[in-house]
Amino acid sequence: MPEKISIQLGEVQRTLLIPLFGRAAEYEREHPLIRDQFAHDIMEKLDFDFKAAFARSPIQFRINSVIRAIHLDAAILSFIVRYPDATIVNLGAGLDTTFQRLDNGKIFWYDLDLPDTIELRRKLIPEGERNVCIAKSVFDRSWFDDIRERRSRVLFVAGGVLVYLREAEIKRLFLDMTGEFPESEMVFEIYSRLFLWLRNHALTRRALNPALFSKWYWGANSAKAIARWSDKIRVVDEYPFYSRLDLTDDRVKVNLSPLNLLNSGKWIKMVQIRLG
Ligand SMILES: C[S@@+](CC[C@H](N)C(=O)[O-])C[C@H]1O[C@@H](n2cnc3c(N)ncnc32)[C@H](O)[C@@H]1O
Repeated sequence: MPEKISIQLGEVQRTLLIPLFGRAAEYEREHPLIRDQFAHDIMEKLDFDFKAAFARSPIQFRINSVIRAIHLDAAILSFIVRYPDATIVNLGAGLDTTFQRLDNGKIFWYDLDLPDTIELRRKLIPEGERNVCIAKSVFDRSWFDDIRERRSRVLFVAGGVLVYLREAEIKRLFLDMTGEFPESEMVFEIYSRLFLWLRNHALTRRALNPALFSKWYWGANSAKAIARWSDKIRVVDEYPFYSRLDLTDDRVKVNLSPLNLLNSGKWIKMVQIRLG
């Protein structure tokens, strides 16, 4: 058997393990919500006991990252239908394999993440002519120059990463992007400030391993609040996280406690904006 690959990652970088596990574990189910064999194969190659590590964490954490991937896939597919040769930039890509799942043979795809994440990524996921990694922080604006392929339109995807940044940093980033990438779009999820507090509180209450679960910093109650940052930001789409899904599916139902349902329109939302 080939030797397993060890994981040497900083604190925030290790958060990529949860969504990877979510998609990989889903693949083992008879009727998966998302079929990501690449994630499953990557999990098998890592020297890390996912099942033991996440045994005590709520299943919702994992399923939410699967639901997020379903929403992001839908947004990306719809963008690719409109612009088949689009450029897609995955910010905070982790070990995400959306390009491998959705490639239409024409898009150009960048996966950007911190250097140690990209070092691990390169050991597991080969780059290609139309799929290139950028080993930089989003704060290092030199990554703008690394986006050399600017096809008909650019779509930025930021799944599960903005929560680890501060609002002032995100605002600055978005404003800089409106100047650099006019007419681009960006898709991501937002969590209300109340949800943010409850989630951070749950980490302490359940004494979850801080090496796997980092604190979240950014919450936003609505896309409108983001659009107020600049008249160059326009909301293209905004909808509750627990919508546009098969709500009767057992896996989705796991996350739909009465409290969650009651608040599903407000607590977590998917947002797509136009920049510039
Ligand atoms: C929860 S993971 C999400 C990974 C991936 N989007 C997915 O859904 O599988 C958060 C990712 O954001 C990355 N990240 C955190 N801060 C970052 C920064 N300043 N610049 C670039 N990436 C960052 C981490 O390294 C990690 O891979």
